[in-house]
Amino acid sequence: MRTQVVIIGAGPSGLLLSQLLHLAGIASVVLERRSAQHVLSRIRAGVLEQGLADMLERAGVGARMHAEGLPHDGFAISVGETRLRIDLKALTGGKSVLVYGQTEITRDLMEAHAERDADVIYEADHVTPLGFDGDTPKVSYMREGVTHEINCDFICGCDGFHGVSRSSVPDQAFTVFEKVYPFGWLGILAHVPPVDHELIYANHARGFALASMRSHALSRYYIQVPTSTHTDDWPDKAIWQELKTRLGDEAASAMETGPSIEKGIAPLRSFVCEPLRFGRLFLAGDAGHIVPPTGAKGLNLAASDIHYLSEALIEYYGEKSQAGLDAYSQKALARIWKAERFSWWMTMLLHQFPTLGPFDARMQRAEMDYLVSSRAAQTALAENYVGLPY
Ligand code: APR
Ligand code: PHB
Repeated sequence: MRTQVVIIGAGPSGLLLSQLLHLAGIASVVLERRSAQHVLSRIRAGVLEQGLADMLERAGVGARMHAEGLPHDGFAISVGETRLRIDLKALTGGKSVLVYGQTEITRDLMEAHAERDADVIYEADHVTPLGFDGDTPKVSYMREGVTHEINCDFICGCDGFHGVSRSSVPDQAFTVFEKVYPFGWLGILAHVPPVDHELIYANHARGFALASMRSHALSRYYIQVPTSTHTDDWPDKAIWQELKTRLGDEAASAMETGPSIEKGIAPLRSFVCEPLRFGRLFLAGDAGHIVPPTGAKGLNLAASDIHYLSEALIEYYGEKSQAGLDAYSQKALARIWKAERFSWWMTMLLHQFPTLGPFDARMQRAEMDYLVSSRAAQTALAENYVGLPY
């Protein structure tokens, strides 16, 4: 079998890339290790920059996002007794973000693929990118016990942090930059109305908390927990109590509680792989970088990678030019590092760091005091939160 581009991974990165290539007349095959149902069962991010919303519209999958997504013009930060509203719209000359779940984006993309009977192969085992350092790359995989091979021009590794693409590259060909934070986020999803119409990020003496949402009837909450925590350590009742404590009296009195329909713990990590290109293999999305979720940048960064990569491939096939492909890694990394900085900064501002000393605690307090008192500081935060330009 032969195609132009093999895409490994059917998360938002892989499916969006395949859709954009299809619209430009470029053939691809997507290979995904899990079932479609499993991919859809993962609860992930939920805050979309305008750039991602625009791309989804261009990809022809924007209808439900526009109908059901919730535009947010601001959010709240609460540190100790101080509550600050970041007025995104006023601070950025009219920009905002859209609250719409990554799971819903994936569903919309899957439907678009199904409608055009696209080549998305689920439950593909032992996916292996081969020969990408030469001119005849191929990808092998196994399905129902039978081995297959797809010859192609390019391989795009959109297979997330634990994927096979990056691990197929010899260690000495890339450099990893990494910071692992000494805590994770325990997240729940519950069929209750959100506590506020906007998100609330809180740094309380007992740790970080976030009140988020997926719709007017579906809430998403997080609390900072030690890395060693298990979900069994936190029955629903204890989580709601902790959220009320950390989010403060005003939120506590407005909070509706109910049984969690999903509960999970995610570690917090900053990670960048340099470069993102190895001959005819390109990395995009979580395969190439991870941000802690505090700035809501993971999904949005995946989208900007896919923007640069799809444009480069379209240029290659349309104009027989390698320029875009040659520039991909550098261009994508320039934006990635800025989002890494922002996510790290928000993480440092909003969490309790038990291992840091009193000086760092004062620095954190001074950072918040400065943010409260300075429109320039708030503008910098807002500019990053709504998303830097592509
Ligand atoms: N073979 C085939 N598919 C694989 C393999 C493999 N060896 N390893 C992983 N995959 C698949 C995963 O099952 C998953 O469906 O690749 C997909 C990667 O999807 P994501 O992890 O969602 O990564 P990405 O598409 O880059 O999305 C970016 O934004 O909010 C963040 O971290 C969040 O998922 C998120 C992301
Ligand atoms: C979420 O709703 O899942 C969410 C929102 C904002 C973040 C992180 C996660 O910063």
